This record gives sequence, structure tokens and C-alpha cells, in this order.
Amino acid sequence: MSSHPFNERAATRQQAERDRFIATHPKSMALARAAQAHYLFGVPLHWMRDWPSPATLFVRSAQGITLTCADGLAYADFCLGDTGAMFGHSPPELATAIAEQAALGLTCMLPSDRAARVGEQLQNVFGLPVWQMALTASDANRFVLRWARAITARSRVLVFDGCYHGAVDDTLVDLDPATGRTLPRPSVLGNVHNHAEFTRVVPFNDLAALEEALAQGDVACLLAEPALTNFGLVPPAADFWDAARALCHRHGSLFVCDETHTISTARGGYAHAHGLAPDFLVVGKAVAGGLPCAVYGFTHQMALRMTAAKDAAPEGHSGIGTTLAGNALTLAALDASLQHLHSAANYAHVLALAASLEQALRRRIDHASMPWTITRLGARMELQFMPHTPRNAQDVRAHAQSALEVFTHLFMLNRGVLLTPFHCMLLVSPATQQADVDRLLRAFDELLAALA
Ligand SMILES: Cc1ncc(COP(=O)(O)O)c(C=O)c1O
Repeated sequence: MSSHPFNERAATRQQAERDRFIATHPKSMALARAAQAHYLFGVPLHWMRDWPSPATLFVRSAQGITLTCADGLAYADFCLGDTGAMFGHSPPELATAIAEQAALGLTCMLPSDRAARVGEQLQNVFGLPVWQMALTASDANRFVLRWARAITARSRVLVFDGCYHGAVDDTLVDLDPATGRTLPRPSVLGNVHNHAEFTRVVPFNDLAALEEALAQGDVACLLAEPALTNFGLVPPAADFWDAARALCHRHGSLFVCDETHTISTARGGYAHAHGLAPDFLVVGKAVAGGLPCAVYGFTHQMALRMTAAKDAAPEGHSGIGTTLAGNALTLAALDASLQHLHSAANYAHVLALAASLEQALRRRIDHASMPWTITRLGARMELQFMPHTPRNAQDVRAHAQSALEVFTHLFMLNRGVLLTPFHCMLLVSPATQQADVDRLLRAFDELLAALA
């Protein structure tokens, strides 16, 4: 890996970029030192240290796609809170709805009077008729796994290698490429359970492996993103989902579609646009414009089976739900978001602008003869340091160039452009304009020149 020339070139230039950040961000550097006293790793959530800058960028404000840091520098934000702010930061309709509801009660453990309308809109946007709410996509996935196991009376969950569905223990497993066995993910802290006992992992885009895993007859559900988005961007092969869906059906396993990131594909998400007909659908992060909220929807048939499972269980805790889920503030934000953000006009804007950005990046990569590619799924795209679109997680691992990735992030950040930190993902929002795209392209030209 490190023998790759661009990786080595990036590693040697990294110190200059670190020095540049330190010189131009004295306030973020000072805030980082102060925060060190009161936060583990100096940040409210330790992932915030995973950005590649010498200190975390402390944010003063974020509006549209402009993020302003404590030093007063403005950034064109293509990370957008790793999808949480996919519709732009603080869209005016959302900010107004939140402010109005804030004066009318935040949480009552009762539905607000707008709940029925929100349910109708969820069906309108995502296509499924019945819904439940959670506060995070991690929670929603956890709850759906519980329902799926309860209604099928099967213990196994099936996921794809390289998946990420949040802090959901059952899914934090890897595929051992040498043996094909499922292994607990070694980086997970404090794990005492062998999740490999109840979870099976197969490579994405591999129908034979999927069939073999399902044929054992113990799989409650396949939990999957329509495309892998958290291990680089890995799109499904043509007809993969038609066949995968049919296999689930044939073997009595439910299909749970996690659209938390793939709602970037089209209005209502990938499953809606491509007719995947999931049994359950999970959406979090941006569903209420970035206010903590997640939803899961399901068919009438699932609703009947869930009702029967609940009725048959003894009185007491179901293990599903949290006190603040479905609170009044969240419902108000979801209402405004479904009305104003998940709109055909917003999607038309982001899909057109993202397509033109993809073409512009591709032209530059070709012109510079770089062995790189761009993979796009609607408004989301990924700069990949490999010559072809990956087919599965193992393909991504084989081409990993971490020094080049880290360098690219910091280089772009130093030129006023934010990319998603864990890989080189770019997201176009309804607030993104051609001028923002031009700024990104200028920085990308500089990056290519620096690596030439
Ligand atoms: C596909 C997918 N599902 C679920 C989650 C979990 O979201 P949250 O961290 O908001 O719980 C993520 C987070 O990145 C995700 O990418």
C-alpha cells in the first residue's frame, strides 16, 4: 500500500499542510487546548478527533453550506455533518418550525397533534404505510432487528462485509477474507458477546454467498444499505437487488433497507426509486433536517405480525423505544422537513449539480492521468484512489491509501473545502451553488498539481 507513489508523495507533504493549518487557525488551536481539560480526547464525541487537522476545527456557525470556524474562516461544506445536514445547515423553514415548537412544549410522552399528518407524509415520501420513531438511526436499526427476530422467531441477522449501521452491536462484525467466517470487529470496545454467533456476513454483490447464507433457514432479516456508503461507495451490480430481494423472499427472511445515507439517491431514497419493496425501511440523520430523529417504516403485513408478537408477549418492557423518541420538537422538525426539504425541486437541483460536479472531477482526473475514479449515487459521490468502481469491501481494502486520503482532506480543508473525514465523500445539498462547486474544483486542481 505505502509503496504507491501518490501515497508516499502525500505523506511527505503532510507536514507542510499541518503547519499551514496551525498558522491559520490560532483560535481553534486554543479552543482545542481548553477543551482538553473537560472532554475525553478534547472533544464532546471522540470521533470529532478523527478529522485529519492538527486540532479539531471549532465551529462558530453553519448556514446553508457555509461553515464558519472560530477563526472566522468560511468553508464550503461538502461533508454536511456526514449526511445529517444533507439539506443544508439550518434551512429557514426548519429553523422557524423548531423555534415555534420550542415555545409550545418539547416532550410529553404523548403524540403531538401533528403526528397523523406526519405519518401521512412519511408514506407519501418513502412509500411505506406504517411508522415508528426513534432518535437515531442506530436506535431505529436496533429496534427493527428486535422486531424482525420477534416476528420470524429466527435468531440470525445477515449483513454485508464493510457495512455500518451505527452503534448496533449485532452488526459490528467483519468477514475474514481467508476463511469466509464472520468475526467480531476487533476495534469494538468493551465487547463481551460473540456476535458472530447470531450474525452472518457475506460480501456485497455476491449472490451465491447471499444464497448460501440464507439457505441455512435461520436468518430473521438481511439488514443492508442499497449501496455500501460507509466503506467507500460501493454501488450494487445491475439486477443485484432484484435477485437479492427474491432470495430473501424464497428463504423466509425479511429485508430491512437502511436508507440513512442513500436518501441522497432520489426523493424517497433508493428503495423507492428502484422498487426494492423492503419489509422495513430505516431513515435517520437528515430525515428531520439534522435534528436528532430517525424513523422506521414497514408494510401492513409486518404491522400485523408486530402487533401479534406484542400481544403474545407478557406485560413489561419490550426492549424497544426510548423516552424522548417521537417528542413534540422532533415531530415539528420532521413535519417541516418532509414538507419543505424532501421536495422534488430540491432533489432536481442536487441531482443536476452533483452530475455536473462528477463530470468536472472525472475530466480533471483523466487529464492528469490519475489512476482514480469517482463513484456517484445521486447527490453523494466519492473520490476513490483506485482505477475502477469497487465491487465489494475487499476491493476497497485492497486499494486503501490512507496517507493520500488524510492528505487530501487536510489539503482541501486548508483551501476552504470540507470533505467527509472517514473517507473522501462529497455531498451536494439544495443550498450548494455553482460557486461552491467552482471553489472545490479549484482546490482539486491544486491538489492534482501538488501530487504531480
Ligand atoms: C447507513 C447508516 N445507518 C445508520 C447509521 C447510524 O446513524 P447514527 O449515528 O445517527 O445513529 C449510520 C451512521 O453513519 C449510517 O451510515
